[in-house]
Amino acid sequence: MVAARPDAWFPLRAGQRFADGVPLADIAARCGTPTFVYARAALLAAFEAYDRALGGHPHQVCYAVKANSNLAVLSVFASLGAGFDIVSGGELARVLAAGGEPGKVVFSGVGKTRAEIEQALEADIQCFNIESEAELTRIHEVAEAHGAAAPVSFRVNPDVDAQTHPYISTGLKENKFGVAHSDALALYRRAAELPYLEVVGIDCHIGSQLTDAAPLLEAADRVLALVNQLNREGIELEHIDLGGGVGIVYRDETPIDLDAYCGALTRKFAGRPEMLMLEPGRSLVGNAGVLLTRVEYLKPGEGKNFAVVDAAMNDLMRPALYEAWHGVEAVAPRAGEALDWDIVGPVCESGDFLARGRRLALAEGDLLAILSAGAYGMSMSSNYNSRPRACEVMVDADTVQVVRERETLAHLMAGERVWGG
Ligand code: LLP
Repeated sequence: MVAARPDAWFPLRAGQRFADGVPLADIAARCGTPTFVYARAALLAAFEAYDRALGGHPHQVCYAVKANSNLAVLSVFASLGAGFDIVSGGELARVLAAGGEPGKVVFSGVGKTRAEIEQALEADIQCFNIESEAELTRIHEVAEAHGAAAPVSFRVNPDVDAQTHPYISTGLKENKFGVAHSDALALYRRAAELPYLEVVGIDCHIGSQLTDAAPLLEAADRVLALVNQLNREGIELEHIDLGGGVGIVYRDETPIDLDAYCGALTRKFAGRPEMLMLEPGRSLVGNAGVLLTRVEYLKPGEGKNFAVVDAAMNDLMRPALYEAWHGVEAVAPRAGEALDWDIVGPVCESGDFLARGRRLALAEGDLLAILSAGAYGMSMSSNYNSRPRACEVMVDADTVQVVRERETLAHLMAGERVWGG
């Protein structure tokens, strides 16, 4: 099972919150704040939970790099033999730098450029997940110029409602992703006839942070029905990739039971020749990380109490963008009067909040851990307000490694020139 509690790897022991075996306060003292802290053991456990749950059928778990693309995170998964789901040439370069196998890389995304397609052909990736007819034409052209057939799959849009936040729902007709279920057959026929394409798979991804497996299983059924149709036309596939989307516990969600979901999938695949692939992101890294931040100022007020911390929406954008809820825990809970605090950053936007109305006893200088920040935290961060990006640290038992140094002001301006300069 993926650890259900957001603080499972960040326990409170004798009044101190830890990251695995290291007090978070020690990390703050050594590295400063804001800092993302990842527990390596949590990554191992989450990956192994998928591997075990899919054990009933040949499978490949392709970590969705976009969730957290730090080289250390990628290298942990690479060491476990993971595949990777990428969406850009940048992510491909990271996977290769982290020791990932190019032959286990699938390339998703609606806007692959010619240069990215060339880069991926050069690296000899496993498969391009094609998202439109225009992309099919382009990949064929680039592959012809490259002189070798490109391995391809179509991302089919199963038109299933993932019942999640509209910004992270992708499997409906109205979304920009994938090709329509009704067009898929014709596209497969066309691809099968083109000399510089080799049809190897099919894929789908209906959305993210799902807490019910039913839409995922419904999408799987629709994809399998399509594969059966392809088989009848003599088109055989090597793999069926059912995307990511398994949600995590941020607050009080009842998460998908991974063993039950994967068990249902492997039963559907029983006797099938195709390898079963998944592309989990959040469920592998989300609760493996926290964002460590320090209270700069307390601003109690009539209507609201604000705790201004040194992390902001540029570090963790999810609350501002999706009104996402992240747990907030004091690193050293203190006695004293607890008030309801809005935890806000220094950025000049009213949307710059990390959490609202959290009952905590706080003092200036206190450290807070923003939970469930391992997925779509650092990878979505920016330099807005000319804020250097946070430091990233990985912990394993009592070992701490800085896996990305805090950006400096020199980094911020590197590559810029004053006019005429
Ligand atoms: N495969 C594809 C093709 C995807 O587009 C995604 C996520 C995944 C796999 C991984 O999905 P996961 O297992 O992480 O749910 N920034 C948003 C999430 C955007 C997800 C985009 N696609 C958030 O912070 O909630």
